[in-house]
Amino acid sequence: MNDALFSVAGQVVLVSGGSRGIGRAIAEGFAQREAQVIITGRDIEVLERTAEQISGTIPVVPMVCDVANGDQIRETVDSVIQQFDRIDTLVNVAGVNRRMPTEDLTEEDYDFVMNINLRGAFLMSQAVGRKMLERGKGNQINIASLNTDRPLKHVLPYAASKAGMGQMTKGLALEWGSRGIRVNGIAPGFILTDLTQKLWSDETMKQWGNTNTPQGRLGTPEDMVGTAIFLASEASSFLTGQTIYVDGGFTAGWSWPIPEKSQ
Ligand code: NAI
Repeated sequence: MNDALFSVAGQVVLVSGGSRGIGRAIAEGFAQREAQVIITGRDIEVLERTAEQISGTIPVVPMVCDVANGDQIRETVDSVIQQFDRIDTLVNVAGVNRRMPTEDLTEEDYDFVMNINLRGAFLMSQAVGRKMLERGKGNQINIASLNTDRPLKHVLPYAASKAGMGQMTKGLALEWGSRGIRVNGIAPGFILTDLTQKLWSDETMKQWGNTNTPQGRLGTPEDMVGTAIFLASEASSFLTGQTIYVDGGFTAGWSWPIPEKSQ
């Protein structure tokens, strides 16, 4: 990368939920551009394997941190600061889903999804934010969802958690904007990952997704990288409190089965 405006070289980047899928692709994107990347997740063996596979010239560092556990979050942030002195960019990716009609959800289902997706992201943003405030500098990027704006059917706790994340993005931008910290979100469209593979292996679903996405395909984790780099770089220096929809045009409007050459 030789355009300083878009450079993330030398940044210390913490990717929470970086072992696979979207988090892994974003972590690799930063690593390829000479950032010092730390990936976190729950399983050290998976994290170590991923770190080895995605390392660039600067080795990616794996650390265990379950975002359902507030103490682990604060300890991890302290440990990153001890080792690397600062965090320039936090990417909140860790997320889970349980798809079913609301009447079938248990209290445990609700807590599981909310604790990881919203409470975990909040506690991570807060712990990292406190360190960023001390320096008066930093960037936070929250991985939101199409559900941040409008819910899909049968994922209510997930939709509520991602809507909450949208408000958190705006609220933190309001509180921290004048203190040097920008907070933005990326709302991915339909992305093929371990989280969604089973869903999109259904032919009817796949056809619906392709047809209703103006760009005519489902997304890949790598499709998220450019926007993450942009949000972490000086190129977006006057941008905060926004969630950018990286969805192949899905939310641009409504596709309908009108003939291509209608009169
Ligand atoms: P994935 O299941 O492949 O990856 C989820 C990541 O979160 C993994 O690295 C996993 O280790 C981590 N994680 C889960 N629970 C955790 C916990 N308690 N503590 C720490 N890390 C934890 O899923 P995918 O698809 O890559 O999703 C990543 C994020 O993107 C999620 O927040 C998801 O809601 C969001 N997203 C995904 C979309 C998709 O179509 N795949 C669409 C919109 C948003």
